[in-house]
Amino acid sequence: MELGLTGKSVLITGASSGIGRATARLFAAEGARVALTYRVNKDGAQSAVAEIEQAGGTAMATQYDLADPASITAAVDSVIAAYGSVDVLVANASPWSGPHIPFRAFEDVPVAEWQSQLREELDGAFHTVQAVLPSMKARGWGRLVFISAASVRSGIPGEEAFIASKAGLNAFSRTLASETGKSGILSVVVSPGATSTETTRRALPPQVMSHVAASAATGRISTPEEVARAIVFMGSEANGNITGTIIEVTGGT
Ligand SMILES: NC(=O)c1ccc[n+]([C@@H]2O[C@H](COP(=O)([O-])OP(=O)(O)OC[C@H]3O[C@@H](n4cnc5c(N)ncnc54)[C@H](O)[C@@H]3O)[C@@H](O)[C@H]2O)c1
Repeated sequence: MELGLTGKSVLITGASSGIGRATARLFAAEGARVALTYRVNKDGAQSAVAEIEQAGGTAMATQYDLADPASITAAVDSVIAAYGSVDVLVANASPWSGPHIPFRAFEDVPVAEWQSQLREELDGAFHTVQAVLPSMKARGWGRLVFISAASVRSGIPGEEAFIASKAGLNAFSRTLASETGKSGILSVVVSPGATSTETTRRALPPQVMSHVAASAATGRISTPEEVARAIVFMGSEANGNITGTIIEVTGGT
């Protein structure tokens, strides 16, 4: 199947590691020109760029902080200056680094964590979409792919801030789909379940990881590449009319 990604400009936030990095590699392998953002891990982003270029792809790295609207605008401007447009946005960056183990009570969640999680996840998405939409509307084509979390369905004890922020992202994407569909812009959420990224391995002790894997229909958690394949399809021409919905990559939880 032809994905129609040759020459498309794809901005992937939080791409120096994990799902974002795997997604950047896969978009580039399909002929897209990719822009990877990093907040502090410049070396990680540059090594991902080098890896993609060695494989014959086109990539650049740019600084971007969900908590800093000026850095978001500057990052999008730098991609438009280099590639002429942003055709696909993958809003993947997220401040959360996994659940607190052992689980904590909601009363123990600091208000500062609640505020910063909501602000970075939702305000960050707000500013990023405002920055990329004019370029998409001007071309009458665009794909917005938001990376949420399948745990929005069940919740995670003590992680109310993370879950509420991802639920907000789901609603944001649904509303954008209604507003932008007739302009040729599709908006989709990809919701991973537990995925074997470094962040997950750091956050979850092996016995918790085994329990999570056993609870999936397939008996295992996803790889970053499996999540990336769903993201790349949703962000492609081959996705002709899927919008306003949530695609889960969970192994059936
Ligand atoms: N790995 C999982 O099990 C899992 C499960 C559900 C959802 N997700 C979601 O998938 C996405 C990728 O997660 P991952 O597992 O690859 O983790 P990751 O830690 O490798 O990726 C998250 C990225 O976001 C960046 N980031 C954090 N705070 C930022 C900020 N303020 N500004 C800009 N960038 C910032 C980090 O630097 C990192 O590159 C996230 O949105 C995460 O919530 C992951």
